[in-house]
Amino acid sequence: ARTAAVIPAAGRGVRLGPGVPKALRALGGTPMLIHAIRAMAASRAVSLVVVVAPPDGAAEVRTLLDAHALPERTDFLVVPGGGSRQESVRLGLEALPPGYDIVLVHDAARPLVPVDTVDAVIEAVRDGAVAVVPVLPLADTVKQVESAGAPGGPERVVATPDRSLLRAVQTPQGFDRATLVRAHETVTDDVTDDASMVEQLGPTVVTVPGHEEAFKVTRPLDLVLAEAVLARRRL
Ligand code: C5P
Repeated sequence: ARTAAVIPAAGRGVRLGPGVPKALRALGGTPMLIHAIRAMAASRAVSLVVVVAPPDGAAEVRTLLDAHALPERTDFLVVPGGGSRQESVRLGLEALPPGYDIVLVHDAARPLVPVDTVDAVIEAVRDGAVAVVPVLPLADTVKQVESAGAPGGPERVVATPDRSLLRAVQTPQGFDRATLVRAHETVTDDVTDDASMVEQLGPTVVTVPGHEEAFKVTRPLDLVLAEAVLARRRL
């Protein structure tokens, strides 16, 4: 089965501060999106990468791809995205040609995921899982809260889930294509990752070990860490 990667890159990246869309910000002089594309194309199993651009930014992203060296053996498609991550992924899936039976969904905001993690996810799907997520244990204790007044105001703690049973979830998440398409057709709730749509549908989602360097660049401090990881790799 051939494998394609869909990269939602249509987010504004508001939490990172003002400026260009997050995926287009530079890391080590190269746009974050280009790093993310190279991270997917680094896997020999990935033969197509579908980049989901900001709704009005497909031409700009196409130009960006043309300006950077990318592996010859990989095909690239650029499609315009939507107003939510979920919609952007769905638009990416609709652009997939037939023949790609395994689909990875990878955040442009995780530019530094190592190829071994990508390959481990693909391997787990090849071995029969219909949905696979890379995960890490949590360093922090997590509290469940409820509002104690106005939204954005004080909160009270209502529970402390057992940390040993919790995992932080990364991307790429890997799927049997038909299962993921069905999930996107069926689940309409707001979700923050694709695997949770499969969970709502019913099939079992399994985990593989994630990697610290697959962290999501969300806030300004994450940019500092990403630059440091890149600098270390170049040593
Ligand atoms: O906002 P968050 O960090 O969860 O975004 C995760 C990924 O989803 C990012 O790569 C972002 O570009 C993408 N996204 C998208 N379309 C949106 C919102 C987010 O492709 N409308």
